[in-house]
Amino acid sequence: MHEQIKQRLEQIVNNIGQLPSIPDVAGKVITMVNDPDASFSRIAEEISKDQAITTNVLKLCNSAYFSRGKEISSVERATVTLGIKEVKDIVFVAATKSILDKQIMGYDLAKGELWKHGLAVAVLSKHIAMIKKKSEIADIAFTGSIIHDVGKTVLALYVQSAFKEIVSLVDSKQITFQSAEREIMGFDHQEIGEKILTKWNFPQILRDIVRFHHEPENAPNESKLLVSIVHIANTICLMGGIGVGSDGLYHQISEEAIKTIGLKDQELENLYSNLPDTINNASAIQ
Ligand SMILES: [Fe+2]
Ligand SMILES: [Fe+2]
Repeated sequence: MHEQIKQRLEQIVNNIGQLPSIPDVAGKVITMVNDPDASFSRIAEEISKDQAITTNVLKLCNSAYFSRGKEISSVERATVTLGIKEVKDIVFVAATKSILDKQIMGYDLAKGELWKHGLAVAVLSKHIAMIKKKSEIADIAFTGSIIHDVGKTVLALYVQSAFKEIVSLVDSKQITFQSAEREIMGFDHQEIGEKILTKWNFPQILRDIVRFHHEPENAPNESKLLVSIVHIANTICLMGGIGVGSDGLYHQISEEAIKTIGLKDQELENLYSNLPDTINNASAIQ
């Protein structure tokens, strides 16, 4: 039975047509934001080509989390008022919601829970980047966090059929849920997530965040800081019960991630005690 699952997953990752798709506009906007020659108006024009995304983007611009108080009624206005990086975060939320905002069976996550978890991790990651005076990477921390568990959307079905074996391996070997995923199914949700982002042509840094968010110590040096930020935000949210499903309550923050960020004990404590604020801010994104 494990062999069947392994073979099936091999087939899926080798045939990217079977992995989820994302609206073109998200990939284009992410590339354009990193291009110094791309103007506000070209980015706005690109977004405006997709009517559904445009409607959602405008709604999000005026949401309590992103709004700067002034009503925003055009995408062009949004890029000027909020800035290109903020608009990129917003486009990302608008473009990924339909992929992530669904029931994730095998992980025992009701509809909306994985989405809310991603938003909470995103808000917290951005906050960590800001308190550590790394505002220049806050937008990447945010987008990487939104998408970090995307592999679960594909693995869910298989986790469901291998669930008993995964859990008994977790118990007998005292390993984490995703290590057991890898042992039993040949892949864990980090690896599947990375394949999905490769299909979407997303930048390497986002792929690294998805690939290493449970094992920041294995991330390449150039992405270690961002992977560590998302790892810490993810673990704090899980410890606070945000988006916890069948993968259980056993989660530990990597010491190396704490060192990489230079997070002090007091700062970490504050992140825990401010979790209700994080949840409030995340629910203001809609
Ligand atoms: Fe994860
Ligand atoms: Fe997560």
